[in-house]
Amino acid sequence: MMLCGHRGVASLAPENTLAGMRKVRELGLDWVEIDVQLTRDGTPVVIHDQTVNRCTNGRGKVGDHELERLQQLDAGSWFDKAFKGESIPTLGQLLLLCRELAINVNIELKTYHEDEADLLCHRVSQVIDAGPFSTDSLLFSSFNPACLMLMKQLQPDLRRGLLVERIPGNWPQLMAEPGCYSLHCNFRYLTRAQARAVKQAGYPLYCYTPNKPDKVKHFADWGVDMLITDRPQDYLAAGWPPGS
Ligand code: G3P
Ligand code: MG
Repeated sequence: MMLCGHRGVASLAPENTLAGMRKVRELGLDWVEIDVQLTRDGTPVVIHDQTVNRCTNGRGKVGDHELERLQQLDAGSWFDKAFKGESIPTLGQLLLLCRELAINVNIELKTYHEDEADLLCHRVSQVIDAGPFSTDSLLFSSFNPACLMLMKQLQPDLRRGLLVERIPGNWPQLMAEPGCYSLHCNFRYLTRAQARAVKQAGYPLYCYTPNKPDKVKHFADWGVDMLITDRPQDYLAAGWPPGS
């Protein structure tokens, strides 16, 4: 079972920053998950919330700020003074660093409004084209099915993951239309029967965001393929996966 750092390594470095990517490398992980949205001037940037309030010294919506202004914000001090000066990275900056560090990236396409999907996907696709990035080093995921359909058209060679909280009854249809590779669900709601069904259908099953190794020991038996966690260091310290 693989470990994936959530928003970088959210427990060890400010989330969704380049410092977080370096923590992923320090821990020896192969995968990181990040969140992407657009600035006012249409640049994909790496940040989770709809506003910059929680994770920077600024205020207001991400989509209301120009890139130049956003990148002047301090995205590190809120977490720890040692990270003062970290900024919100563009997707391009982050992908170049991850390519250099040989980290595979799960790019979560975040939309807070229905009408954001089209522009977000086109701009993200342009960043990918400017790489180049190897096709197996990237995976798109989204709670928004429109984003997955768009990425299927724009970047057909890159894998897509359906992101859900609870696995709905119609998951096979939701996976089939955008041609999804993997199913990503909230670990809290996953049942043994669901895991069995997803695995029997041949899909990789990824779970977010289990932060206590003891709580998900049974996931190894259930065939879960990846844990997307804020605390990968705890899994490594516990000799994850259990029984290995
Ligand atoms: O991609 C898994 C996970 O990141 C989804 O939830 O809110 O942490 O982006 P969230
Ligand atoms: Mg995310």
